[in-house]
Amino acid sequence: MPSQPSHLHLVGVGRSDRLQELHDDPIAFFEVEHVWKLALCDALELIADGLPHSTNEALCRMAVSVLTTALPRHASLEEQLLFPMLRRSSSIGSDCERVLVELEQEHASDEPFAHEIAEALEELGQGARPRNSEMLGYMLRGFFVPLRRHVEWEDVTILPLARRVLSREDKAQLAASLVEARQQTDTIFNSISAAVAEARRRAADEASRGTH
Ligand SMILES: [Fe+2]
Ligand SMILES: [Fe+2]
Repeated sequence: MPSQPSHLHLVGVGRSDRLQELHDDPIAFFEVEHVWKLALCDALELIADGLPHSTNEALCRMAVSVLTTALPRHASLEEQLLFPMLRRSSSIGSDCERVLVELEQEHASDEPFAHEIAEALEELGQGARPRNSEMLGYMLRGFFVPLRRHVEWEDVTILPLARRVLSREDKAQLAASLVEARQQTDTIFNSISAAVAEARRRAADEASRGTH
């Protein structure tokens, strides 16, 4: 797994600093988004590990919110803003086009799968017992394992390429289009990170109680 991006320091800094940083390197926006996507994967893994006996309702509710709103928003920002700019760049070849098509296909297959998982987690978030724990665990793993791979693949291919080949004008346009989304990124990042940290603490407490 790649090391966490150095741009994590952006989370929590003042608005004017963030805007300046976004202006200097708009590609960092996607790297910071990927950090919350990996935190979502951690959340889904914690939920899967807790089945069938332990259900963290707050974590399930947080995962539902991210799966149904932030995740499609992220894919749409890539598909509506970043990928078209890469395609317009004369420096990309057919290999890059193939990667972009694969990533778009993964986005398309993730969306209905994310909604299916969100429906199941919604019930757990309201205190219901899982209807079929084995199936739910299988679904969760079938979702977060490829999602981690998708994020890592974008981090090592598309984002470095975008930094290299996008023109100054494209980067300025990208930065201008992402100002509003940048505010939401901080909120999502802080919420999901706090929920995962709390769930880890709870899981550790339960494990230590189980050993005494
Ligand atoms: Fe993507
Ligand atoms: Fe992405």
